[in-house]
Amino acid sequence: MWTQAIEDAVAKTLRNIERFGDKFPHVSLNGTYGLNDNDDWTDGFWSGMLWLCYEYSGNERFRQAAEATVASFRKRMQEHVVLDHHDIGFLYSLSSKAQWIVSRDESARQLTLQAADALMKRWREPGGYIQAWGRKDDAKEAGRIIIDCLLNLPLLYWASEQTGDPVYRNAAAAQAEKSRRYLVRGDDSSYHTFFFNPETGEPIGGATHQGYSNGSTWTRGQAWGVYGFALSYRYTKNPLFLESSKRLARYFLNHLPEDHVAYWDFNAPVHADTYRDSSASAIVAAGLLELISHLDEQDPDRSYFQDMLLKSMTSLVERYATIGEEDAEGLLKRGSYYVHGGISPDDYMIWGDYFYLEALMRMEKGLTGYWYERE
Ligand code: GLY
Repeated sequence: MWTQAIEDAVAKTLRNIERFGDKFPHVSLNGTYGLNDNDDWTDGFWSGMLWLCYEYSGNERFRQAAEATVASFRKRMQEHVVLDHHDIGFLYSLSSKAQWIVSRDESARQLTLQAADALMKRWREPGGYIQAWGRKDDAKEAGRIIIDCLLNLPLLYWASEQTGDPVYRNAAAAQAEKSRRYLVRGDDSSYHTFFFNPETGEPIGGATHQGYSNGSTWTRGQAWGVYGFALSYRYTKNPLFLESSKRLARYFLNHLPEDHVAYWDFNAPVHADTYRDSSASAIVAAGLLELISHLDEQDPDRSYFQDMLLKSMTSLVERYATIGEEDAEGLLKRGSYYVHGGISPDDYMIWGDYFYLEALMRMEKGLTGYWYERE
């Protein structure tokens, strides 16, 4: 089943190279991907998919297309196009860092180090956190962290490994600790975002941006936490990060509906038309593979996580994937970007496609993504 799903995904990605040209897919509307220049937070996912397909198939067409995306990311860095946000980690981990991991290209490594420096510019004192959105002088955004940032941290940990300079790793570990302390609640659910007073660093309180309400648990935020804390554990070996990943995973899995694919928010009222977010389940599948890799055979949660991983991936492949739909652009239906904002509540999300493919490639071929150096 997994091989058939991968083959279908690789064939669709190959067709999409022609469709997308030098643009980048974001989210779809009625099944057609919106394409943008390299100026959004999502543009690394397409690059990551191309690198995964190249590693799987050896088809040079994928490598050429992936390298073209990296050239575009180089230009984006030189011209500083829409980089005033923390998602630099998503962008450059899956593009130039992927190229470095796949082909040891020194200029790709240098570009990735430049990206880490750009991300470090978002470090804020006295609070000691990475500002998620907006410029430093943006009064509203200056004090905000968001849980999604946990996936941006591998870029910083990696930069310390590469350079020997602990400054990146210290910031990443401090951000993970801040997230653990303020974004994760006592019952293992999570806030999407949390505000601090930027002048004093004092904590103010949790809030949502894309979730149902300030106190609700946005499923994709919880998913970023599952994967992100597991990655912080990989780099730091701090057992608290492993524990956080496990706790967020248990909460996520224990609150799934019968078909094992998440609704868009765990607190959204459920009725026949409630939107799913298949992308949250794809992120958690990839995150569970990472989490399980750190658990020994005796760990009491291991078999539960493995069982739930298989159930979720089976459901994604059998009920949500576009397998056999030749003309479909996306791999995974029924993602939700921003339900309350009215943006693509039931469509393809390029990050859903990426994490679904990453999970399949890891399950079937042992190919991990590009968050860390391969052993
Ligand atoms: N990181 C933005 C999102 O998940 O929508």
